[in-house]
Amino acid sequence: MGFVNIRIAGWGHYAPEKVVTNQDFEKMMDTSDEWITTRSGIKRRHYAGPDETSSTMGVIAGKKALLLAGMQPEEVDLLIVGTSTQDMIFPSTACLIANKLGCPEPMAFDVSAGCTGFLHAFSIATQFLNAGLYKTALVIGSDTITRYIDFSDRATAVLFGDGAGAVVITTKGASKPMVLAEIHGSDSSGAYKLFIGGGGSAHPINVHSIKNHENVFYMNGKEIFKFAVKVSDTILDSLFLQTGLTPDQIDHYLFHQANYRIIESTANRLHIPQSKLIVTIDEYGNTSSATIPMSLSVSADSGKIVAGQKIILVAFGAGLTWGGMVIQWNL
Ligand code: ACO
Repeated sequence: MGFVNIRIAGWGHYAPEKVVTNQDFEKMMDTSDEWITTRSGIKRRHYAGPDETSSTMGVIAGKKALLLAGMQPEEVDLLIVGTSTQDMIFPSTACLIANKLGCPEPMAFDVSAGCTGFLHAFSIATQFLNAGLYKTALVIGSDTITRYIDFSDRATAVLFGDGAGAVVITTKGASKPMVLAEIHGSDSSGAYKLFIGGGGSAHPINVHSIKNHENVFYMNGKEIFKFAVKVSDTILDSLFLQTGLTPDQIDHYLFHQANYRIIESTANRLHIPQSKLIVTIDEYGNTSSATIPMSLSVSADSGKIVAGQKIILVAFGAGLTWGGMVIQWNL
């Protein structure tokens, strides 16, 4: 299937003000800066304040993206949010963000795919633009994972932070296709390896679910690590096969920021130089659906990503889900 011309009109990101360092964790539990740094690459992460939520962070990132695009909220006809930590069970975080931004009548919905949420949302948005149904989409990844951390599980607790990233994509004024190839999938045999069990219809929040620790994040880190390395390799092989591109023809590689060792493993196999890796995990930790749009925004702001460059995006997360895209940074 061919792809229509799309350009990236704007981007933005937001990280809460409160920073939690590895040294802060040393005071809270039996851990060390050395362990966290060597095992994950994380140094700091940002925690949402009591009044901050996935929608409030998404609004700030979305506003920045629209401002940069020089667009009004009225021009957004599609608003999709990748999140697994929505403000409420319903309505969707996308509708809350549309309300706060003042987007009058967009098609608005959330995508729940763990850390792959943004990439699935981004792909869905491009399909709607491809189909000619809409012209301009605001796509946001926003997660407030720290609300669900089990601070008695040191292997998981140290990994996560909160944040949001947003991009505006549009067919208006676009002269080249943005998506060059993509692949998405899931392996539901791993559905119970990474989850928050409470709050849904199976285990509504009540005294029993809290007593059973169902209100916090569970992750089988070792299993997820193996899955992430394997699926990242599969995704990259497929993207190169689909496009006929070779690893050296890609300008930047942006993997979901879950653990630097996962990024390093795939990079080493393909001899990808460090300079081509986009890495923000040291500053933000794993912000789930937000890692990819935040990292894109940080890199575009700093001038690391510039017009015309080819970028590979790779995500994986709860489900277990995964996705990969080759995009061209058309402005
Ligand atoms: N500080 C100090 N020691 C620790 C800590 C800590 N914070 N956590 C674990 N350890 C100890 C363990 O107890 C263990 O000690 P032992 O050998 O005496 O038993 C030792 O360190 C090694 O533990 P492992 O679990 O083997 O550590 P590993 O190297 O596997 O790293 C980690 C754990 C960081 C969780 C890793 O498995 C990982 O990153 N997994 C992937 C997570 C991921 O990608 N998630 C993405 C999806 S998230 C989403 O979708 C929302």
